[in-house]
Amino acid sequence: MIALKTEAELRVVAENAQLLAEILVEVALHVEPDVETAELDRFAEERIRAAGARPAFKGYHGYPASLCVSVNEEIVHGIPSSRRIKAGDIVSLDLGLARGGYVADAALTVGAGEITPEAERLLSVTRGALQDAIRAAKLGARVSDLSHAIGRHVSRHGLYVVREFVGHGIGRELHEDPQIPNFGEGGQGAVLREGMVLCPEPMVKGDDLPVHIKDDGWTAVTASGSLAAHYEEMIAVTPDGPAVLTGGIWEAFCRRRT
Ligand code: MF3
Ligand code: CO
Repeated sequence: MIALKTEAELRVVAENAQLLAEILVEVALHVEPDVETAELDRFAEERIRAAGARPAFKGYHGYPASLCVSVNEEIVHGIPSSRRIKAGDIVSLDLGLARGGYVADAALTVGAGEITPEAERLLSVTRGALQDAIRAAKLGARVSDLSHAIGRHVSRHGLYVVREFVGHGIGRELHEDPQIPNFGEGGQGAVLREGMVLCPEPMVKGDDLPVHIKDDGWTAVTASGSLAAHYEEMIAVTPDGPAVLTGGIWEAFCRRRT
């Protein structure tokens, strides 16, 4: 069942999404060579709590931290640790918070210092896939139109989506219906209606192999060691078209980074 949010609920969801986007950009600005991934987690949690919110990932199915930090061939769900970021790494940051009974969730991948042209391209193709998904989130379209838009964009650029993890609806819960796979034919699944809030989240890599989960039980890595990228925004379906509640996190990051 897909929960439709009222106007009053959407106001809370949008405020939370905006707060999350601000914090996530600040975390991303801290991604630099020699920074420990656990420092990023501590910073994210402090900012969340200072805003009167709580970290939505901490304790979720036993996840031990507030932030997911996934470096290079790590795709998602990397657990913050004493690992230090190196120049040339790509770092995926995924963060969630809850406040006033509603959850917000978003992600982006950034480079530490100079990254290779191949890595730049991976990031930009993944962002393009998310943009295509957002454009597809029109009233009356269907859930799998977002999936199709993501998969088509990625395959056209010679890269591969992660099939094991999906985007999702969000609201009172972190993961609500519908599931939004990163591939598939269009025209399937629920019709998009006013008041739906969705988190499309393309995860893209250089190989077409099943992902591997590390011994920590969380960290998903590419089987070949190829780099992976991940972007996620929260969008609301409205009569005026998709509203990006998180406001374009990559663009906000670029404005602040200068
Ligand atoms: N952004 C992730 C998602 O949408 C959430 C991280 S899972 C957690 O699935 F367990 F770490 F919380
Ligand atoms: Co998500």
